[in-house]
Amino acid sequence: MAALRPPPLDAAAGQVARTAAAAPDWGTLAGVARSCVACPELAATRQHVVVGDVPTGGRPRLVLIGEAPGATEDETGRPFVGRSGALLDQLLAEAGLDRGQAAVLNIVKCRPPGNRTPKTPEVARCSGWLRRQLELLDARVVVALGLSSAKWFLGPRTKLAEVRGRPHEVDGRAVWATYHPSAAIRFGPNGAPRAALLADLTAVAGTL
Ligand code: URA
Repeated sequence: MAALRPPPLDAAAGQVARTAAAAPDWGTLAGVARSCVACPELAATRQHVVVGDVPTGGRPRLVLIGEAPGATEDETGRPFVGRSGALLDQLLAEAGLDRGQAAVLNIVKCRPPGNRTPKTPEVARCSGWLRRQLELLDARVVVALGLSSAKWFLGPRTKLAEVRGRPHEVDGRAVWATYHPSAAIRFGPNGAPRAALLADLTAVAGTL
């Protein structure tokens, strides 16, 4: 069985990890995470910490994990509500999955300025929140959307084309890594990433 391979912890990452691990429930974790200042640049430029969406009716059937909030998510405080989110919702519906039964999270909870890729220390500092979220949700099936998310679970050398299309067991969870909806938008409706993302979501639906 593979184990999670997070980036090395710095002091702030260690503090986040300890704080998150002590949170007894989702509400407590969300409250503390919303005042996180572990990444000074992100804390200074964000409007909201986007903690994530969880189903109201209990344990999620699956957990979808993107990279980091974009502009609309930063404004609203909710994950995947901009253009990528609209396409994700459409593809989930086409695959027969209900977003309302899924938890929707990100690797990094604050918007990186200009939507740049999160830096390695930012991923490391935010990892404590995500680890505790996965524990609290008792997540059994995870869909990692895009390379940052895939690398968090499967390691830094991960290549999406090599790992997509099948589940990987990580810490007792079935982790599916696939393309990010933004790649599907970039390559267009007839592009390979959209088809692969839909095929992967459909395969996941078949396992639930
Ligand atoms: N892209 C992501 O990775 N996450 C979001 O919440 C929105 C866009």
